[in-house]
Amino acid sequence: MSVIENSKMAIVGAGAVGTSLAYAALIRESAREVALYDINSAKVAAEVLDLAHGTQFTGASRVTGGDDLDVVSGANVVVITAGARQHPGQSRLEMAGVNVEILRGLMPKLVERAPDAIFVLVTNPVDVLAVAAQQFSGLPPARVFGSGTVLDSSRLRWILSERVGVAISNVHALIVGEHGDSEFPLWSQARIGPISLADWMLSRSAAGASASAGSVPFTEAEFESIADDVKNAAYRVIEGKGATNYAIGLSGARIVEAILRDEGAVLPVSSVLTDYRGVSRVALSVPSVVDAGGIARVIDVPFSAKEQALFEHSAATLRASLDTLGL
Ligand code: 2OP
Repeated sequence: MSVIENSKMAIVGAGAVGTSLAYAALIRESAREVALYDINSAKVAAEVLDLAHGTQFTGASRVTGGDDLDVVSGANVVVITAGARQHPGQSRLEMAGVNVEILRGLMPKLVERAPDAIFVLVTNPVDVLAVAAQQFSGLPPARVFGSGTVLDSSRLRWILSERVGVAISNVHALIVGEHGDSEFPLWSQARIGPISLADWMLSRSAAGASASAGSVPFTEAEFESIADDVKNAAYRVIEGKGATNYAIGLSGARIVEAILRDEGAVLPVSSVLTDYRGVSRVALSVPSVVDAGGIARVIDVPFSAKEQALFEHSAATLRASLDTLGL
């Protein structure tokens, strides 16, 4: 897809996530300009150079950046990846305090330099920081939101695609709630191509398909196992390599594209909710229509009774964390 003219995305934080996002955005031509900011001048200068050296092969995008916050000026989208990163075994919520304070000082300066931008939080705990950033910026929730469970939903879709033997683009399944330990799959809405996951399993077994993996209905234990694999995916990757970066980078690029291309794409991003199935004053991921204005609307999904209970648990978990932080 061709790059959108005069589109600028700015990335705050040139760590593993921010640079992976920049790399993904260049390759996907998410924006005409990718601007990278970090307080570490040597690091950000080197990252910008290393990325720029490959732009012969990435088409129409250019990469800029530096240690002066003015590099975000005029950006259409600002993605915030800066902050302390998760240590092995550490939960995302345990990182909240430090990263909230980083945002407290940062948001007003970013809004001053990019007053018309859409702000996307990636730093964890992303749901807490989406609330903090929205408060510190004074902008409407539609314009300040988190990457939420876009990444988790991609993990779920990958697992299901492998299990049922269907292209990931035709596996429609979402993780909702907290981007964290209380997240859960919306099994009631999962679809394989044009039919529900439940019908897929019945049709596959009814058609006498070979009992190959994915052709036999999942047991309850298998549904739970898949949900756990998604929920614990980051812990597993962090344990092995110290951080996650590629998939969250790609997820961030996808969100930026939906904004810059005014797509109206349905993505499970995390925004401050008001009376969403009875939940308010927390940011949680629910399917949302994302376009040039940010979040055009959140989609009211008919949760099952179990999903409603899980959603309320996720909300209570986040609310408790926000209360301790005075947000
Ligand atoms: C992830 O889920 C750590 O939140 C990051 O990969």
